[in-house]
Amino acid sequence: MSTPAAPRPAGAPVIRFEQARKEYPDGTVAVHGLDLDVAEHELLVLVGPSGCGKSTTLRMANRLVELTAGRVLVEGQDIARTDPVALRRRIGYVIQNVGLFPHRTVGQNIATVPALLGWDRQRTRTRTAELLELVGLDPGVYSARYPYQLSGGERQRVGVARALAADPPVLLMDEPFGAVDPEGRRRLQQEFWRIQRELGTTVMLVTHDIDEAVRLGDRIAVFSQGGHLEQLTDAVNLLARPAAGMVADFVGNGRAVRLLGIGELVAVDLEPAGSSSNGPAPAPLLAPASALRLGSRFDDAFAALAASGGQAVPVLAGGGAGAAIAGWLTPDGLLGALRRITAHAADESDEAASAHR
Ligand SMILES: Nc1ncnc2c1ncn2[C@@H]1O[C@H](COP(=O)(O)OP(=O)(O)O)[C@@H](O)[C@H]1O
Ligand SMILES: [Mg+2]
Repeated sequence: MSTPAAPRPAGAPVIRFEQARKEYPDGTVAVHGLDLDVAEHELLVLVGPSGCGKSTTLRMANRLVELTAGRVLVEGQDIARTDPVALRRRIGYVIQNVGLFPHRTVGQNIATVPALLGWDRQRTRTRTAELLELVGLDPGVYSARYPYQLSGGERQRVGVARALAADPPVLLMDEPFGAVDPEGRRRLQQEFWRIQRELGTTVMLVTHDIDEAVRLGDRIAVFSQGGHLEQLTDAVNLLARPAAGMVADFVGNGRAVRLLGIGELVAVDLEPAGSSSNGPAPAPLLAPASALRLGSRFDDAFAALAASGGQAVPVLAGGGAGAAIAGWLTPDGLLGALRRITAHAADESDEAASAHR
């Protein structure tokens, strides 16, 4: 297949930017001198305002943009010394509006890299069908269609399938869901997240949308103009403790609401199952689909409390017939849970800060 990567120690970053700088010919310094590591199997999101250097950074990693100074290593290799074509076969690339070849069918589009790699027909066909299934499109229906016969969301799915065709270790995505309507976008984000977990592909994804960033990112890198890395942390920490100044402004007013969308209930948030003074009869009255469980998100918990009129609601542990009440959630319990993740985030950011010293 492609050029084998140099052996590297376990846990070494898959992509490493070392003082990476890009000055365009007209004198615009898009990225001043970036140091950033993307870990194996990680989904790292670059987020920041328009023009801050996100796309430039991403495109430095597959040599669509050549560096002016510094280095980028992919799987331990300095990419300045690798053949750009071979490099791009190892790195999937997905952009907004996808750039599917209009005169090729969906199947042929997905088979682009396998064809370059000289795969035989059977292997290519099997792989194409597998990928269409993976992104939720029926191969029997979609393989023979042309891009103009697809909706925006379907095109975006095909773009993801095409980028994954040769199972690249690294996937670069630039505003990949930007052209899709909000509802379709949310669904694509969820599905993509599932696919990424399943395949373990290392992903660097660019967006200007903070909601997309906190939904998808294992870690989130917030950029300001000039490709300056302002903060690098996980979603909860970013929302709970945004760095003062630019990040706080960018993350903005919706912080508390966004935290509701990503925090999850754990046992300590609940009152004990045995406490008798709590609310109406439990599980049998609840439709299982709407019951809260350990791991339910805070926004669902909030909705359940609102529906109960503020009465404690039961929270289940385990699934199906084996489900049992783990405890009761009260409005105070939910507030405590919000404080819990905020405090936890504070600990982690202190650790992260001292690790960098
Ligand atoms: N080919 C180019 N020539 C000159 N300037 C460019 C070029 N591409 C991007 N820029 C500039 O570099 C800066 C960063 O651009 P970009 O990386 O596309 O930002 P983002 O993706 O965050 O919106 C912007 O000021 C942009 O105008
Ligand atoms: Mg961009």
